[in-house]
Amino acid sequence: MTRTLDPAAPAAPATDSDRAARLRAAWRAAWDQGDVDALNGLLSPGYVRRRGPRGVPQSRDGFKDSIRAVREAFPDLRTEIEDLVEDGDRLAIRWRSTGRHTGAFLGVPPTGRPVEVSGATFARFDGAAIAEERVTFDSRQLLEALGIITTGPGAAVDPDLVRGVHRKFITGVTVVTTDDDGTPRGLAVNAFASISLDPPMVLVCVQRGSSTHPALHRATHLGISILAADQLDVAKVFAGKSENKFADIAWTPGEHGAPLLDGSSAQLEVEIGERVEAGSHTVFTGRVVTARHEERAPLVYSGGGFFDISRTAPLPW
Ligand SMILES: Cc1cc2nc3c(=O)[nH]c(=O)nc-3n(C[C@H](O)[C@H](O)[C@H](O)COP(=O)(O)O)c2cc1C
Repeated sequence: MTRTLDPAAPAAPATDSDRAARLRAAWRAAWDQGDVDALNGLLSPGYVRRRGPRGVPQSRDGFKDSIRAVREAFPDLRTEIEDLVEDGDRLAIRWRSTGRHTGAFLGVPPTGRPVEVSGATFARFDGAAIAEERVTFDSRQLLEALGIITTGPGAAVDPDLVRGVHRKFITGVTVVTTDDDGTPRGLAVNAFASISLDPPMVLVCVQRGSSTHPALHRATHLGISILAADQLDVAKVFAGKSENKFADIAWTPGEHGAPLLDGSSAQLEVEIGERVEAGSHTVFTGRVVTARHEERAPLVYSGGGFFDISRTAPLPW
């Protein structure tokens, strides 16, 4: 089939591999122009697509049907590839789709509303074609835009109230880092939690607008340094926007290359597993691959202030 690609569409970067260039062209043809058969050369006949690790599998034909349905509801659909990273036979794509809801979708008659959804797709090639894809996006963005669920004013809890609640929750402060092709990058994060001990898994939540986010999204590993009570100045640096936050910071690369901050209370390296889009953040989950801790009291963050836990009184229990 002959396809006419949109001449106004941005050209693929010169650094794109053949696979990446074919993916961009096929996505543009299928998602933006409705030529779903353009996917035939990209997706293998036995192709399987899942939403999340345990999502219901969708075949190549099923995927084409979904694209047709989406395009009927959003005929002006545009999908922008924000980042595309290749690693061996795998491609990770961060994307953002926009369109106006002018046809029925999910049982909702046209609302005329503009809709924006962003997410990530992880593709595995088998030879020249993609055998498997996993996709993650925040479906609430879509459902909310269509009025299927309501979290807007009237139904939403007052953000100041929610902020007040969060201020009651005491956390430590971590610096989440990654090696971005030889450049260390990182930001202060208190949205860190243990998921399980066996296997050892943790999560961190990083705002998509953070300048460290693209590097983290591309990375296979991230580092987590739990700051010590005497590292308030370090917390300030990594909560800031300096171009080179590591200029005056002592750090050591971990076994898997993630920058780990000297003098911190504890350090982990994590092999990134899931990258789940949720609200304004991406939740990175992963398996702990190296761990160490020191006899240093951790820095405590509570109610917007920082505290030295070694100066608090333990309660008997
Ligand atoms: C105590 C503290 C905790 C923070 N926790 C998070 C967090 O969990 N996730 C996040 O994305 N940003 C968090 N931030 C904000 C970022 O560190 C901040 O926006 C930073 O400037 C981002 O840097 P970047 O844009 O260079 O990546 C926190 C800031 C502070 C001070």
